[in-house]
Amino acid sequence: MAGIVEGKRVFLTGGGGNLGSATAKLLAKEGASVAVVDISLQAAEDVVAEINSNGGIAIAIQADVRNDNQIFEAVAESVGEFGGLDTLINNAGIMPHQDASMLDADLDEWRAIYELNTLGTVTVSRHVVPHIKEAGGGSVINMSSFLAVIGCSYPQDAYTSSKGALSALTRSMSAQFGPHNIRVNAMAPGPILTAHVEQFFPDPAARALRLARVPLGRFGKPDDVAGLATFLTSEWSSWISGQVITLDGGISINYV
Ligand SMILES: NC(=O)c1ccc[n+]([C@@H]2O[C@H](COP(=O)([O-])OP(=O)(O)OC[C@H]3O[C@@H](n4cnc5c(N)ncnc54)[C@H](O)[C@@H]3O)[C@@H](O)[C@H]2O)c1
Repeated sequence: MAGIVEGKRVFLTGGGGNLGSATAKLLAKEGASVAVVDISLQAAEDVVAEINSNGGIAIAIQADVRNDNQIFEAVAESVGEFGGLDTLINNAGIMPHQDASMLDADLDEWRAIYELNTLGTVTVSRHVVPHIKEAGGGSVINMSSFLAVIGCSYPQDAYTSSKGALSALTRSMSAQFGPHNIRVNAMAPGPILTAHVEQFFPDPAARALRLARVPLGRFGKPDDVAGLATFLTSEWSSWISGQVITLDGGISINYV
């Protein structure tokens, strides 16, 4: 039986990381060809080796989303390899631990976070979207965060606002590119249990405090994000555009 994204050609940034690698593997399993793009060639190659060994189609490309030339080359390589592109997943991003309240802002840190999370998405989109237009349409998926949906009394203001910009950009892109049959949506995940996120829970009490707010009673898994990304790539989501879809186990609708 054909997978739900059979024949789709995907450009996925940050594809060597926790959420990116789970997404690349599920997309390939469901029939897509995936360009796994990452600043770390090793991370991208590891993911691609696993996909290829399971019979899936993927290529590893080293590129920095902050570097316009590198992204131009990476897009050209993907188009050459797959014969075009119809899906972009802007997943690459950072969430530094030292990020805190805007009252203590280290402006260089803010610039670095915006340059990667926000401008990186712009840089990659401006090179990939023309190819999606040429393909007759497709899907763009930006990576926002639940922190751009609700406030948090343990602030990470640079990260939160860099992701809020992506939620706004998603709506603007959706309105602009819809006439070219391009759907643009964003995913806004709550805490997905990765080694990096676990460092935000320094002790059991900090972990329990956060878990108590999750109606579904658990933190997220990379596969939760991979599932939504695959759905948004597929034609199963063919009339969804301009949406920021929160996947957080219900945290953002829970008062107490
Ligand atoms: N983990 C969570 O709980 C969570 C929640 C909400 C949103 N997010 C977002 O999901 C995305 C992925 O998060 P993750 O947890 O998988 O992080 P991760 O650190 O595991 O993966 C990020 C990947 O991006 C790559 N990368 C970093 N800088 C890059 C650059 N300049 N150019 C290209 N690639 C670069 C890294 O090498 C890494 O492979 C991020 O945008 C993050 O903000 C994560």
